[in-house]
Amino acid sequence: MGDKIKRIGVLTSGGDAPGMNAAVRAVARSAITFGMECIGIRRGWQGLITTDFVTLDAASVGHILSRGGTILYTARSDEFRTEKGRKKAVATCKMLGLDAIVAIGGDGTFRGALELSRLGVPVAGIPATIDNDIGCTNYTIGFDTACNTAIECIDKLRDTMQSHERCSVVEVMGRNAGFLALYVGISVGATAVLVPEREFNLQRDVVERIRSARLAGHTHFMVVVAEGVGSAVEIGKQIHEAVGIEPRVTVLGHIQRGGSPNARDRETATRMGYFAVKALAEGRTNLVISTRDGGIVETPIEEALQMTKHLQMDRYEVLEAVGISKTHGL
Ligand code: F6P
Repeated sequence: MGDKIKRIGVLTSGGDAPGMNAAVRAVARSAITFGMECIGIRRGWQGLITTDFVTLDAASVGHILSRGGTILYTARSDEFRTEKGRKKAVATCKMLGLDAIVAIGGDGTFRGALELSRLGVPVAGIPATIDNDIGCTNYTIGFDTACNTAIECIDKLRDTMQSHERCSVVEVMGRNAGFLALYVGISVGATAVLVPEREFNLQRDVVERIRSARLAGHTHFMVVVAEGVGSAVEIGKQIHEAVGIEPRVTVLGHIQRGGSPNARDRETATRMGYFAVKALAEGRTNLVISTRDGGIVETPIEEALQMTKHLQMDRYEVLEAVGISKTHGL
């Protein structure tokens, strides 16, 4: 592959996130600005194996900035995890004349990108996942919109829980990370929040908090559970046995991944898309575009994959201090 990058491929991979389309648009349009061609690879890494592509010009990414999901489709490819699959992907890059790939997604997407870079295809990663669990970046595209979607749903749940003086157990996404659960929990004034990063103790984390809330005058309770902690239905049963109240359980599920991206996700995606292409145009490759202290930085992809991001446990302090206070029966 030549030194100067003339044609790039862009793909979205793994779980979709609101703002992925905004990133695709920014990559395609920035490519044109830098004098490159842009090819959309459909269905993530799988599309690179099966040569599933679409040419992206300025017009073909029009009117997608506000759309949820991803126009390029997304997938989790088992074949790409094999050496044979990755060799086929390299062959596709050669055949289409792709000098570099911009991969939009989460941790798994970047692992794939690293493998591809080791086979000689330059890559740039753009972090997009509602989990916000990528170590090298403060923020991942989609997180804010997903939080707002969950908040909107929980606010509605609260109305009916308040009317019936009930306890609600709400499961939000996050198999390995509690960022979504904790941010949402604080934002809805949850009675308790359970996250995978903190060992779960029913008595301490839920029963005592419901009891304190009741003693403080609360008549309804909101327990937010990240999916990685365990089944919300099961936790609801445990609450029933321990406290004697019968919670109503709601699993928000994939609704959290959909919807039109909000301002933060559109703006971040657009900036990240531009800076990914700029880096490639200026000869910097095999990196992940990250946000740090409000600005954009580039992190070498190998290093990025070794970085971990810890849930800020002092947010619990905030939750505990503000969530339960003396009320007047409301
Ligand atoms: O990674 C984002 C995420 O939404 C996780 O929070 C969740 O555990 C997972 O994807 C669900 O993925 P799937 O699309 O396989 O249901």
